[in-house]
Amino acid sequence: MLELLPPPPTDPLWDLTYEYGTDERPERLNLVLGVYRDPTGRTPVMAAVREAEILLAERSESKEYRGLSGNAGFNRALLSMVLGPDGPADRAAAVQTVAGSGALRLLADLICRTRPGTTVWISDPAYVNHRPILEAAGLTVRTYGWRDAEGGFDAESVLRDLGAARRDDVVLLQGCCHNPTGADPAPRDWAALAELAARNGWVPFVDLAYHGLGDGLEADLAPTRMLAARVPEMLVAVSCSKNFGLYSDRTGCAIVIGASARSVRHAETALQNAARTLYSMPPEHGAAVVTTILEDERLRRSWEAELELMRGRIAANRAELTQQLDASGCAVQARALARQKGMFSMLPLTSAQMLLLRRQFAIYGTTSGRINIAGIPPHRIPCLARGIASVLDPAELPRQARLVR
Ligand SMILES: Cc1ncc(COP(=O)(O)O)c(C=O)c1O
Repeated sequence: MLELLPPPPTDPLWDLTYEYGTDERPERLNLVLGVYRDPTGRTPVMAAVREAEILLAERSESKEYRGLSGNAGFNRALLSMVLGPDGPADRAAAVQTVAGSGALRLLADLICRTRPGTTVWISDPAYVNHRPILEAAGLTVRTYGWRDAEGGFDAESVLRDLGAARRDDVVLLQGCCHNPTGADPAPRDWAALAELAARNGWVPFVDLAYHGLGDGLEADLAPTRMLAARVPEMLVAVSCSKNFGLYSDRTGCAIVIGASARSVRHAETALQNAARTLYSMPPEHGAAVVTTILEDERLRRSWEAELELMRGRIAANRAELTQQLDASGCAVQARALARQKGMFSMLPLTSAQMLLLRRQFAIYGTTSGRINIAGIPPHRIPCLARGIASVLDPAELPRQARLVR
């Protein structure tokens, strides 16, 4: 049977990561995958996570099956964190999933089960897995513009393109720190999006993967909470991979907000049914860790403080790279970086220039120009800025200098 299988496509991000793994140049720098690294280049276990794991190891008495929705305490804690104290908790439910990706897929299944062939709008460019997940669930994908020529959020294109989204459509929006561009809507743009959704009746589907790493936890959750207050129905995919550093523990949840408690109950059961046929139930460990942290005042404060520290480091990396690019004459790249936030930035570089960066300087970003700002050791920032300056056409630097004047 397997002889019949034609060579399938491989994942471009993981391909690049493997290529990086075989690169023997000591100065190699991996800015491909979206993981936070401390100044020594490690992706640490957060202190609150470590402490919660020790507590759990001491306390745990059984590894009996959980229900189909996973850890009920975790679902309650995440609902309360995402929706906030004034959110529509009485018409919302959360189901624990296999991280943010599992939440996206389960919610995509729910959409398809409710209305087969539904059109889901995603940004262009989008997180690399959005289209594959939605199409694998049987949904139709359309795109809306996201980024302007200078690397910032393009409110005009987004509102124009989404003007064509109909009542039966779903619009996938990233709640903060847009991947891959780092370009986020300002509060007035979020208000305009909420107004459009309320007027035209499409359902917002918010993907939350980086809350806490942009402007701070509360500020990053504010657009999601505002949308939830404005529309009758909404879906939210939540990942704990980045903000709890639980990447390999696969921790997250799918949230549904409905117009009535009855429709929410049905949606919750449909999510459980989808999970049952995919993986039965999600892994317990990461969810137990998150619950232990969020339910304990001291651990929660420790987690929030470390998250804030990580956020500060990412912002400092961005500011330093912006300044170094400016000093190297890369004014266009510096300006784009300064307009973006969060873990990623999309440099205005061509795929040929990104390849040159890889070949000549062992600096690995994606060919679309995305780099992981959170992955740059601070002492390598000057070398990264020099690399970027050298892959630009020599005629480009004076032209850029003229452009920004
Ligand atoms: C925008 C976005 N959504 C969802 C995910 C999925 O995260 P995970 O499945 O690791 O929780 C990612 C991961 O990089 C992401 O960038």
